[in-house]
Amino acid sequence: MTARSDMLAHLMSRSPGYTLPRALYRDADLFEVDMEQIWYRDWLLIGAGAEIAKPGAHMTLQIGAYSVIVVRGADGQVRAFHNSCRHRGSRLCKTGKGASPKLVCPYHQWTYDLDGRLLWARDMGPDFDPSRHGLKPVHCREAAGILFLSLAAEAPAFDALAAAARRYAGPHGLEGCKLAHETTIIEKANWKLVMENNRECYHCSGSHPSLCVSFDDNPNIAGDGSGRDDPAIAAHLAKCEGAGLPSGFTIAPDEQWRFVRVPLLGKAVSYTLDGGPSCEKLVGDVAIRDAGSLLFFHYPNSWNHFLSDVVMLFSMMPIGPEETAVTTKWFVRGDAVEGQDYDLERLTTVWRHTNDEDRAIVEENQLGVNSPAYEPGPYSPAQESGVSQFVDWYCRVMTARLTGRALYVAE
Ligand code: FES
Ligand SMILES: [Fe+2]
Repeated sequence: MTARSDMLAHLMSRSPGYTLPRALYRDADLFEVDMEQIWYRDWLLIGAGAEIAKPGAHMTLQIGAYSVIVVRGADGQVRAFHNSCRHRGSRLCKTGKGASPKLVCPYHQWTYDLDGRLLWARDMGPDFDPSRHGLKPVHCREAAGILFLSLAAEAPAFDALAAAARRYAGPHGLEGCKLAHETTIIEKANWKLVMENNRECYHCSGSHPSLCVSFDDNPNIAGDGSGRDDPAIAAHLAKCEGAGLPSGFTIAPDEQWRFVRVPLLGKAVSYTLDGGPSCEKLVGDVAIRDAGSLLFFHYPNSWNHFLSDVVMLFSMMPIGPEETAVTTKWFVRGDAVEGQDYDLERLTTVWRHTNDEDRAIVEENQLGVNSPAYEPGPYSPAQESGVSQFVDWYCRVMTARLTGRALYVAE
């Protein structure tokens, strides 16, 4: 049986409302199907344009087998390329971030312009055509300052996502922010377990003491459910709308992404240990400090929080069937000064704790799933509808792609 037909058989055998069959969380061949059908095709959130603000600034990423460079050109545009020299294939840039006026291969110094054109290659003979040896492009788009890339030959649709990002995230002014801090942690768990854990707060009260100071674990607030009808919450969200901050629940027709603003708990205004501000300066055009948090998830790899004084982008990349890298980036207003407007420890403590707590949870989840005694268990309808929504999206997309049938998308 091929891995694809094996995957389909597992998807067909799945009970809706239940966790996935064990193999989908750990099998190496099925993991490769995930990579090919989802990770090498869909838009992936990779960070913010503000991280590479100047021409020549670049960052590198590893997406499964692919190494990618994302670079800002002399014309100010952000582009992405495969990080593989067109001579003998060396990586051009090592992992991490850097800046240089040209992209120079470290092996034999073939030199590329920031737009990917090969500018110089020594002693390649009279018949050598540099124009046939430019860097291979990767689709890269920016919306409201958020960077996405897609490894697909033909990029998926982007316009509806871009419009929603501009409407909801635009007022938070990510383009004018600066990266204050970044962490990457390795979680020894399948990427789907990492995303499942993120899509519910059933576990929050038992695991996240510092987050629970400011984040309300009522599952109805984030959805369009009964919690948002509560008069106090409705009044708060109406106030945000009145201040120019869209707050309603918007989900993509295929349910790949969602924006919704939620109030924070009680008088909390940011994710700090006392619920007080993270930064003196508010981001973008946000004029009210108690704007709550704009939540934005984008499958398969990202969840994000846009607050009045900080923007947090979370992105994950699978490393193997049971290993996932999770990167968190904290952005503050571009002219905020560390030690004066914000304290790095205060800004980052809650989510550094929360990430580490989540890492421990999903690693235990993986170890338990690895037992032959594991069998799919039921999601709580009241608490884990978001997890069901993610797993349903995954199963629907995977089934459609493997069978070649179009996804039904309600108008
Ligand atoms: S491999 Fe890059 S210049 Fe030779
Ligand atoms: Fe959590």
